[in-house]
Amino acid sequence: MKMRAAVLTSSDSGYAGQREDLSGPVIREILEKNGYEVVHMILLPDDRQILSREMARIADEKIADLLLTTGGTGFSPRDCMPEATADIAERAVPGIPEAIRAYSMTITPRAMLSRAAAGIRKNTLIINLPGSPKAVRESLEYIMPALGHGLEILTGEASDCARK
Ligand code: MTE
Repeated sequence: MKMRAAVLTSSDSGYAGQREDLSGPVIREILEKNGYEVVHMILLPDDRQILSREMARIADEKIADLLLTTGGTGFSPRDCMPEATADIAERAVPGIPEAIRAYSMTITPRAMLSRAAAGIRKNTLIINLPGSPKAVRESLEYIMPALGHGLEILTGEASDCARK
């Protein structure tokens, strides 16, 4: 069965219609190329409560197995995606953002400026990606090969890592 994915973009200017969201569509393209069904795409302002509520809803209503976010991971005063994610995650998944940052540091030292987090709520894996389409592509293509196995374990489709 196809894994279901949701995409959440955090951007005040995108939400206000002042800037086109280019990163959400990049995520969709990569997900579809890798066999995921994109069931939900949403653009929200950089508001901690609004973001965390929507993330919790996607997990609690079993809308998607994987929720990828873009934007709001940097140092700008309104950036709050990691905090919104931590507010609603039941279990932290530090390895994925660690891996993204380690790989991204081979591309740009600015990768250390991403505060991205990841976590699990119920049966949904939530991963923050940076905001730019370039950073999104670099990050997501890098983690994609490992994601399927994690999601199979999370959703109960696989239980034994050793046999893989
Ligand atoms: N990661 C990769 N792979 N490539 C990039 O170009 N840009 C960095 C970083 N991670 C970048 C990257 C920059 S410049 C910033 S400020 C942080 O991600 C946070 O991005 P955000 O504030 O758009 O979420």
